[in-house]
Amino acid sequence: MRAVVDPELGADVVELGMFRGARIGTDGAVVVEIALTTAGCPLRGQISRDVKDRVGSLSGVTSVAVETVEMSSQQKREVMARARARAAESPVATEVPARTRVLAISSGKGGVGKSSVTVNLAAALAGRGYTVGLLDADIAGFSVPRMLGLEGELEATPGPDGRPRIEPLVKRVGDGVIRVVSMGFLSPEDEAIMWRGQMLNRGVQHFLEEVAWGDLDYLLVDMPPGTGDIQMGLARMLPRAEMLIVTTPALAAQKVAARAADMARKGYLRVAGVIENMSGFVCAHGQHHDLFGSGGGSRLAEEIGAPLLASIPIQAAISAGGDAGQPAATGTGEAAEAFARLAEAVVAVAPVVDVTNCSARILDDVRRRIDEHEAQAAGQPG
Ligand SMILES: Nc1ncnc2c1ncn2[C@@H]1O[C@H](COP(=O)(O)OP(=O)(O)OP(=O)(O)O)[C@@H](O)[C@H]1O
Ligand SMILES: [Mg+2]
Repeated sequence: MRAVVDPELGADVVELGMFRGARIGTDGAVVVEIALTTAGCPLRGQISRDVKDRVGSLSGVTSVAVETVEMSSQQKREVMARARARAAESPVATEVPARTRVLAISSGKGGVGKSSVTVNLAAALAGRGYTVGLLDADIAGFSVPRMLGLEGELEATPGPDGRPRIEPLVKRVGDGVIRVVSMGFLSPEDEAIMWRGQMLNRGVQHFLEEVAWGDLDYLLVDMPPGTGDIQMGLARMLPRAEMLIVTTPALAAQKVAARAADMARKGYLRVAGVIENMSGFVCAHGQHHDLFGSGGGSRLAEEIGAPLLASIPIQAAISAGGDAGQPAATGTGEAAEAFARLAEAVVAVAPVVDVTNCSARILDDVRRRIDEHEAQAAGQPG
């Protein structure tokens, strides 16, 4: 069973505690019990096949059946803890500098404005002179390229170690810069992408491992709607990532967002703050309307014990800016001011530190020098 690896968590099923036992009949019939993190786990088929292949090839075994059960939330927490401990011992080599603050913008529900918040926060941070990376983790439903008005194709060149290095596309805002990768730069917007489960995760993994991010202050990750595989993958690959949870003021959205926050914490990601979006609309007559209810952001913040970072009003400038590829944050007016306040709140809860001479920077340098050294060594005959 040690040979059966959960490809997503990168460890074998024994180590992860997913192997629950086996019943071996006198006739050589074997029944193996496997506990999965989710019943609908897309890897279920693969893990079952691997178990059958491995056990079926043992002498004396006449048949193999796999029984799967779903883990309790406590068990899931333990599995994630083991996967994390393992990742800490041998982390995936990401190209994200050690000093970069990684913020995943998430929500339980779709359409609450994650992508709008992400691109506008990126623009507001860049406008303050920060170097911002933006990873569009919504592999199947990407919207970042359109919202930033970026078109083009990602190009990969072999790096010093022979692995490809993907150059992000660049958008300049004021003195700052946003470096962007998205599936939208790999395939046309209308083409259905049939990646599922681990493939979804792989897409994000490639973006973390192979993109030449350069020195970033912030890396914002625009998460797909819902929770699950991508979030777990992110927790495994970048255990230091923090979450910003977007909710609308409505009670229903707030409840779903609370589940997302709960899930984040079970995956050991710190929730750095809550952002309320679509909170109120001021009409031409100056009257305030709570179109989607009120108070959801502060209630959620209180419930999960994270600060409410900003309330972003419903503004035509935000959706129009998204459609035009000109984030409202780069303009003036109420929307731009709201995103400016959000950026300041983010800098306050997740400050970037100047790490010249400190260990994080030194580690990056050491890694770079090892890469160079290996490249040189590879180039020398003998
Ligand atoms: N504050 C706002 N004011 C006006 N329109 C908004 C606001 N926030 C988001 N929108 C609009 O709402 C729609 C959904 O927003 P967006 O795509 O950012 O949500 P999402 O959470 O990323 O969705 P998905 O779950 O599909 O990824 C978009 O058309 C966007 O322009
Ligand atoms: Mg989105």
